[in-house]
This record gives sequence, structure tokens and C-alpha cells, in this order.
Amino acid sequence: MLQVDVDRLRADFEALASIGATPDGGVDRTTSNDAHLAARNWFLGRAKEAGLDTSIDPAGNHSALLLSGSEHARTLLLGSHLDSVPNGGNYDGALGVLAALETLRVASEAGIELPITLEAIDFTDEEGTLVGLLGSWALAGMLTDEVLASPRGGVEGLRDGLARAGLEPARLIEARRDPSSLAGYLELHIEQGPVLEREQVDIGVVTGIVGSRSFRLRFRGTRSHAGTTPMDARRDAAVGASRFAAGVREVVVRDFPGCVATVGDIRVEPGAFNVVPGQAFVKLEFRSQEEEQLDRLEDTLLSLARLEAEREGLWLDVDPVGRWTAVVLDPGLRSTIAAVTAALGLSSLELPSGAGHDAQALATVTRSAMIFVPSAGGLSHDPGEHTAWRDCVNGANVLLATVLEVARAANELLV
Ligand code: GLV
Ligand code: MN
Ligand code: MN
Repeated sequence: MLQVDVDRLRADFEALASIGATPDGGVDRTTSNDAHLAARNWFLGRAKEAGLDTSIDPAGNHSALLLSGSEHARTLLLGSHLDSVPNGGNYDGALGVLAALETLRVASEAGIELPITLEAIDFTDEEGTLVGLLGSWALAGMLTDEVLASPRGGVEGLRDGLARAGLEPARLIEARRDPSSLAGYLELHIEQGPVLEREQVDIGVVTGIVGSRSFRLRFRGTRSHAGTTPMDARRDAAVGASRFAAGVREVVVRDFPGCVATVGDIRVEPGAFNVVPGQAFVKLEFRSQEEEQLDRLEDTLLSLARLEAEREGLWLDVDPVGRWTAVVLDPGLRSTIAAVTAALGLSSLELPSGAGHDAQALATVTRSAMIFVPSAGGLSHDPGEHTAWRDCVNGANVLLATVLEVARAANELLV
């Protein structure tokens, strides 16, 4: 059975981790910062050194390609992302891109006749510095004017981020691929949760990915003097926002088992000791495996925000900023992953993903699957994020074996 070159993968991992390295052992590669752009260049450089073709599409997705010899071959995408959250870890996204590149190198060196083209792809802005799943949505043809009009990082942030990457906003949608040109999508990723480590299982086969929705809320009250405004005459935006945050936790724990909701940011203005805050800016996000639950969560949590605003005499503005649909991953590819994992002598279990991934954009247009490897302590989106090197190698070998099996099956279909 073909295996990845462990030393080469390790050297790549270390080289990539040094690009945007932070003193606490993580990386800061938010979309389009200098380190992110450098990492993307480095990736294409490594692909060229291996004799692979490379390309950049109108959404800035960076690809290495191992072309099939057969005409009209479809493309099997293998991907993840090289951007990180602010001050993030070394594994989230990076492992998947490096394992995809290594898979192409091994297949190329083995001289396998491929009935499908293999494409290792680094998607633009998975983490949402600008929009979230920007590159994969564009490729899936799901990038709408509505999404671009209300991006997570703000309109100016999006404009500047695209400009820094040399991308034209009007051309992003040209990254769309015809679904009939795709043979599927595979993504290796760290679990980012505690299940595999706790169960002492090598590989996670992902059943589905949560959907999530996010909103910017603004509670508007009356800014006033903190010493002279009587307690019963205040319209305090901080009080409305904090009651809302506490209420979100209470309602979700009580009425929405299995769902999560987060008030990730509360910023009040003017933010002084001696001024009753006139405005509070709140970031709300919630997730569930079921679209129907997301609808109910949206109704319930926005009603709660209105209620808490009224109680304090505040105005409320609601701005939707993100809607990621929940997806079920492809049962056929999941079986293939489980089978090759067993053939490699590794254990696996099926589990859902509570984190968002490019696979959820791809799953709407082509059969898609994800392979998880354990995260130490379940920690992620943190510089302390860690996956044992043995697990990284296992994941890369499972990705390689899955790709070879998909190629073998495609070949059978051809003959
Ligand atoms: C992306 O990592 C997310 O789950 O928000
Ligand atoms: Mn990720
Ligand atoms: Mn992430």
C-alpha cells in the first residue's frame, strides 16, 4: 500500500508553521495578512518543486494539480485552508492542505494512471476574517450579492482584504465550477473537539457538519452622566446586552439540547467609567445539525433580544451576517474512508462536526467527505492546538488511501 513520505510531510509542516509564527507557538494568518499571502505563495512553490501544475482562481483559491491523462476527466478536490483565526494554531486547515499536496506528490511519483484529475486546494478565507467559506462558496456557486453586502469582517474589511490579495470583487463568482466537472471533495482536518482522544480512536469519519447563523445586534439606549442619571431613569445599552447574553445561555441549555449559541463579543460605547453606555454592539452565533432547529433558534433568540431591549427601553437593530447550511456527508465516501482506515490497521468511529468547514459548501454540489484526527484536549482556535504527529501521519495516509480507492473505482467505471 502506498504511504505518505513522513519526513517530507513533517518538513512541510514545520516550514508552514514558521510562516506567521507567534511567540506562543501558534500562527497568525488571518486572510490576506502578510503571513497568509506568504503561506499561499509557499504552497504553490512547493507544488511547483514537485513538478505539479498550479493555478489561482478568481476567488483566490490556490491549487496544485496532478492532471489525468484521460480527456474530459473529472476533478477530485482535496482541500482545506491556510488562513487562521487571529492568533490561531498550527493544525486547523494547514494539515488538510499539506496532506492533500503530499497525496498528489505520492501519486505523481508512483506514476499511477489517473482516470480523474487530483487537485489540492487551499480555499480563501475559510475562517471568516472577511466572509467565511469565501473561496469554497465561490467555487460551489453559492456566493451571493447578499452575502457580500453584509460580510462578517465588514464591508471595508472585505474590500481591503480582496485588494491585498489582488482579487476583484465583481469577479469572485467566476470561480464557480460546473458540478459535473467534479468527482468529489475530500478534506482531512483535526477534530477540534475531545471525542476521538477520549474514545482513543485513530480516525473520525464525519457524518455531517453543523449549520450556523450569525447576526450583529445593536442595542441603542441613551448615553448619559453616570453620576447624575438616577438608576430608575436609565436606558443602559450594556444592561440590555448583558441580560440578553445571559438569557441566550439559559434558553439554549433549557430548550435546545444538542445546539450551541454564543455571544462572542459585546462592545459598549463610549466605554468609560463615568458614562452610562448609549450603545452596545453584540455578535451572536448559533449552530445545529438541523435546519429546522436553526429556524427555531433564530426566532427564539431574536425575540429574546427584542424582549430584553424593550425591558430596558432600548432600540434594537438586527443585521444578519452569515448563514452556513447544515449538511450530511456522502455515505459512499464515508464507507470508503472507514474501509481504508481498517485496511491500514487503524480504528475509526463516525461523528458529526460542530465546527464549520469548506466541505459544507462543497457538499451542496458534489459528493463530499471529511476525515478527522484527534485534537489533544479537544483544544482548537488557540495557539495551544496540538495533534500528535503520529495522528497527523495516520490522517494523511487515510486521505491518500481514500483517493487511490476513489481513483480505482472511477477507473472501473471507465472500463
Ligand atoms: C470555523 O472554523 C468555524 O467553525 O467557525
Ligand atoms: Mn478549519
Ligand atoms: Mn477553524
